[in-house]
Amino acid sequence: MTPLNTILLDDISHAAAILRGGGLVAFPTETVFGLGADATNEQALARLFAAKGRPSDNPLIVHVAAVDQWPQVARAMPKVAERLLAKFAPGPLTVVLPKHPSICNVVTAGLDTVGLRIPNHPQARALLADVGLPIAAPSANRSGLPSGTTWQTVLEDLDGRIDAVLRGSTCTIGIESTVVDCTGDSPRLLRPGAISLAELQTVAPDLIAFVPDDACNQQANSPGLRHPHYQPAAVVHLVNSASEADQKMKLHSKSATQLEQHLANCAYCGLDESKLASYLGAARRFRSVEEYAHEFYEFMRVVDRLGIQYLFCQRPATRGIGAALNDRLTRAASPK
Ligand code: TXA
Ligand code: MG
Repeated sequence: MTPLNTILLDDISHAAAILRGGGLVAFPTETVFGLGADATNEQALARLFAAKGRPSDNPLIVHVAAVDQWPQVARAMPKVAERLLAKFAPGPLTVVLPKHPSICNVVTAGLDTVGLRIPNHPQARALLADVGLPIAAPSANRSGLPSGTTWQTVLEDLDGRIDAVLRGSTCTIGIESTVVDCTGDSPRLLRPGAISLAELQTVAPDLIAFVPDDACNQQANSPGLRHPHYQPAAVVHLVNSASEADQKMKLHSKSATQLEQHLANCAYCGLDESKLASYLGAARRFRSVEEYAHEFYEFMRVVDRLGIQYLFCQRPATRGIGAALNDRLTRAASPK
């Protein structure tokens, strides 16, 4: 593709005008940055898939400013989706609904259903309200790489491939929305996210939990989960504790010099402190699982920028956002 001149913006009405004109604009949300395009414009969407290098069988989430705009996106609003949105919108929730014909088929990869999200981020809401159109927005990263949570990382991936980046304030959560399919007999969790299963079940007690084994299954109803995701260039190893990471990092080397070289080529992140932290190429100890979720994608980027080959990540407990973080860690560590 011919390189574009990607501009950095703070002006929401300028960003909205670019989207209305069929352009591609990355913008912050409370989860991760999205790469927006008009969901009713075939040409804009074709450019979006090309810019990300996204497989065409992976559907996009459609974003609007307020819940009452749902008729622009969906043909019907199942009762359970209404209850979920009443409790969690605006926020890090995507509900899968019957698709409205005005949303292009490429958005939903030919499916008769569509993901709807109302983000709760000041600039995202203002942008969507100004545009007035439903905006398809996958995470603003090259396909397969960790999602972008800072405008600098978004530029690193997409400079020259999109029209603009709206800088805005930070993504407070750091991992993507919870996706719930509301089109079947019982609602089903397709992707764990910031809103936990327990929270969802306060509104939808019959909600079927996410089955990790389904994630790589060709029959999985969230087609995007089939593809490799969130993978840095470094090889990711998951461990249960910092001491397990320390042991594994020490195993490889025969001499002291070899060990020193090997440790400089390793990174660690987790909730416990690694005793080897000062010898490693990079190390991060997070104070909470929320901070871990918030910083994890960016830490993988840092590790890659430093050219470090091995990244050891401690699995957190699966309470609250820990379930979603474990899901992303597992995908980051799955074979490339
Ligand atoms: O937090 C988020 O959801 C971010 C921000 C930008 O909103 N967006 C995001 O988009 O994570 P993306 O494209 O990286 O992930 C979309 C996920 C994929 O797993 C996709 O398969 C699923 O949503 N999805 C979208 N439409 C669907 C549909 N109709 N049926 C089932 N799954 C769907
Ligand atoms: Mg993504």
